[in-house]
Amino acid sequence: MLPWATTRGCPGHRPRHRGSQDIQPHRYPAPLDALEVALTDDVLVVHGGTPLEGRIRVRGAKNLVSKAMVAALLGDSPSRLYDLPKIRDVEVVRGLLGVHGVKVTDGDEDGALVLDPANVESASTDQINVHAGSSRIPILFCGPLLHRLGHAFIPDLGGCHIGPRPIDFHLQALREFGATVDKQPEGLHLSAPNGLHGTKFALPYPSVGATEQVLLTAVMAEGVTELRNAAVEPEIVDLICVLQKMGAIIKVHTDRVIEIQGVPKLHGYSHRPIPDRIEAASWAAAALATRGHVEVLGAEQADMMTFLNIFRSVGGEYEVTDARPPRLNDPGQEGGIRFWHPGGELKSVALETDVHPGFMTDWQQPLVVALTQARGLSIVHETVYEQRLGYTSALNSMGANIQVYRDCLGGTPCRFGRRNFKHSAVIAGPSKLHAADLVIPDLRAGFSHLIAALAAEGTSRVYGVDLINRGYEDFEAKLADLGAHVERP
Ligand code: EPU
Repeated sequence: MLPWATTRGCPGHRPRHRGSQDIQPHRYPAPLDALEVALTDDVLVVHGGTPLEGRIRVRGAKNLVSKAMVAALLGDSPSRLYDLPKIRDVEVVRGLLGVHGVKVTDGDEDGALVLDPANVESASTDQINVHAGSSRIPILFCGPLLHRLGHAFIPDLGGCHIGPRPIDFHLQALREFGATVDKQPEGLHLSAPNGLHGTKFALPYPSVGATEQVLLTAVMAEGVTELRNAAVEPEIVDLICVLQKMGAIIKVHTDRVIEIQGVPKLHGYSHRPIPDRIEAASWAAAALATRGHVEVLGAEQADMMTFLNIFRSVGGEYEVTDARPPRLNDPGQEGGIRFWHPGGELKSVALETDVHPGFMTDWQQPLVVALTQARGLSIVHETVYEQRLGYTSALNSMGANIQVYRDCLGGTPCRFGRRNFKHSAVIAGPSKLHAADLVIPDLRAGFSHLIAALAAEGTSRVYGVDLINRGYEDFEAKLADLGAHVERP
């Protein structure tokens, strides 16, 4: 086995069987062995050392559009969603909606979808299982399907291998609403023989998915639901906007409390989603790590404030361009953010990932590549996922100097220190990165591998790059637009 071939993640359409979905044991994906690597054509050859320069555009946020698509199930008329990225997660949700009778067609502009839920129907386990293991979104079908059909079957979940990723909060919430959950080896069978009823419920941790689960269930449950310790990420606020457009009554109070007044009926929506702040930050980190200059059209300052503060503290420069609506004799201008490396040395920083408004866990991996170029010791304390630093060994194989620790090296102890997970990293820099052969372990770490290869001197081979299509639209075309020297062999 190649020393850097650590894990292989997000296995695509590969159904797997699982005993309990409540607390799923973390199973490391099998490593690629040397023969598999030699045979795969899913590889990008990256000639590094050239600064990325140019302009790209981000579309609707991956972590909103997939949820908005699920919300369409709740309406009694068609919904219209605009500016969707062409990524695999959208295709998976489209397929799952399709087998449940939702007619999904392309809209009247590029990136638009029309979702017609007039004929929602049960799907067979086999039809649903085609999509098993490919995304985490199916778990969010529970509430809408229970409302529409009175029962639901949820296949084995997929998504990136970044820790155990249990669904206990989801199931606890659904039971609070009155659902019964029957866990079988092939997946979850849910029913709501007495309907779904509003409830008062506090999440043990402000989970994004569990908050979405509660929203998508409570909007049509009978009575009032009060969710405490809710996640309040911009994608969640945008999902609330979608549900409000459908006729829901949702109040967001201070201190992470969301109150939902159930309504008997919702209708379709028309929505242009918030831009993808994870993709925007990934390109910003790529600009910094390669000493380049990238303008990200569509990037939204308000959603990226915490990232922008760290970017500036590291020594990166940025400029926000406000959008200008079209007027007579003026075609207008799309807003965005220009990110660049101003020359000279970058500075080390200490950061902790956290729920919103903290520094997103998904910003961490791309930025760490830039931190390998900063002078001094940078500290990253990952507090959202317990196993999201494994990718650093690949960076070390390229010349980085990153040590990972079990201790909480941030200001506050987190859930993982007590549980003995390596979830803090110390990055000593600057380090000259050299080319290597890399295997992509998961979506965000995969993008960081790509950035590292672009920043390194020499020619790297990055295996498993198709995984990046799960969350980054047309990333190869964007790399070409930014002047990267990459090719498929
Ligand atoms: N958790 C539980 N039990 C649950 C649910 C979550 O213990 O039932 C824990 C998780 O294990 C984790 C923490 O709570 O330690 C946070 O998980 P959360 O539920 O917030 O994450 P998620 O909804 O599964 C979404 C994004 C992730 C992003 C996180 C955090 C989607 C499809 N995924 O995941 O995005 O990292 O929120 O912001 O929206 C990505 O885009 O690459 C990605 C992984």
